[in-house]
Amino acid sequence: MQVLLAGATGAIGRPLIRALTTNGHTVLALVRNRANHALAKELGAEPIAADVLDRDALLRALDGRRADAVIHQATALRAAKPARRIPVDDPTGLLRTHGTANLLDAAELLGARRFLVQSLILGYGYHDHGERPLTERDQFGVYDGGAADEVVRACVAGEEQVFDAAGVDGIALRYGLFYGPGAFSDLFADLMRKHAPVGPLGPGGVNSWIHVEDAAAATVAALDRGTPGRAYNLADDTPITWREFITEVARSQQTPRPIRLPAWLIRLAVPYIGALMADTSMRISSALAHEELEWRPRYASVAEGLAVR
Ligand SMILES: NC(=O)c1ccc[n+]([C@@H]2O[C@H](COP(=O)([O-])OP(=O)(O)OC[C@H]3O[C@@H](n4cnc5c(N)ncnc54)[C@H](OP(=O)(O)O)[C@@H]3O)[C@@H](O)[C@H]2O)c1
Repeated sequence: MQVLLAGATGAIGRPLIRALTTNGHTVLALVRNRANHALAKELGAEPIAADVLDRDALLRALDGRRADAVIHQATALRAAKPARRIPVDDPTGLLRTHGTANLLDAAELLGARRFLVQSLILGYGYHDHGERPLTERDQFGVYDGGAADEVVRACVAGEEQVFDAAGVDGIALRYGLFYGPGAFSDLFADLMRKHAPVGPLGPGGVNSWIHVEDAAAATVAALDRGTPGRAYNLADDTPITWREFITEVARSQQTPRPIRLPAWLIRLAVPYIGALMADTSMRISSALAHEELEWRPRYASVAEGLAVR
């Protein structure tokens, strides 16, 4: 298939270009920043300059092109401004809402019939989900009036748009938290090298993770074998606490000792981080993806994935 990929130069986009081309697909890489054109080419894609949030410019840049599928992986987490709660105009939220709408228009222009959108397991809600692994049958889009509600709302909006769009087969990919090159593990290692606090004292909540290489492989499997209208949970086999994650990152990247703060202080200073690291606990089942996509993570745990850097 010829695939238009938004977010092609990001933490998942880079391994995804390689995984798509290795599996016989060709990639048109949307690259906003011209400096990244060489990177997209080096990875095996044809770069196209456009901003996903500028609908008219996006459609102009794609005029006369054809594609079979669109994959939306554009996020802007690093562009988020520190705030007590995630705002309605959060950059990644806008990419999930307006960005998805614009890319659906792009899909129509390109004649693309398949559309994969990045979603996130945190859309199940920022609270303690207990011991039972969450499946796609659990309610997605649970709000608690807290600092993270806009993240949930944006994930739901992204998913609903692709499921409701006429003329395209929409699939949502509910990834676990990303680690691996360019992802959260590097972010945490950088913080520890700067002796900045990285998490709560105590274990913190449990979460499910996925190595970016495994996320890329799962995405190709969903492109090739995913059922239209479905959301797929995509995480490794070993949910871990934040303390375990931070300890693994510190050990594998040989950083200084992690500095942790009391959970109450994190909740007070940065409520969103408190909601994420102290108040949310979720174990994710990816059984549907194992069965339907015939995908299994190469790295069953964060410890295994970080060992191969
Ligand atoms: N499931 C998860 O846990 C998850 C999901 C996403 C991100 N993250 C994490 O967040 C961290 C950084 O993420 P990030 O989102 O800042 O960066 P990133 O993943 O490194 O890159 C974001 C990608 O989106 C593209 N993009 C952003 N805004 C765009 C726009 N308006 N139009 C077109 N393309 C656009 C960027 O393209 P340009 O080259 O044009 O800038 C880039 O390719 C990483 O640690 C990553 O692991 C985690």
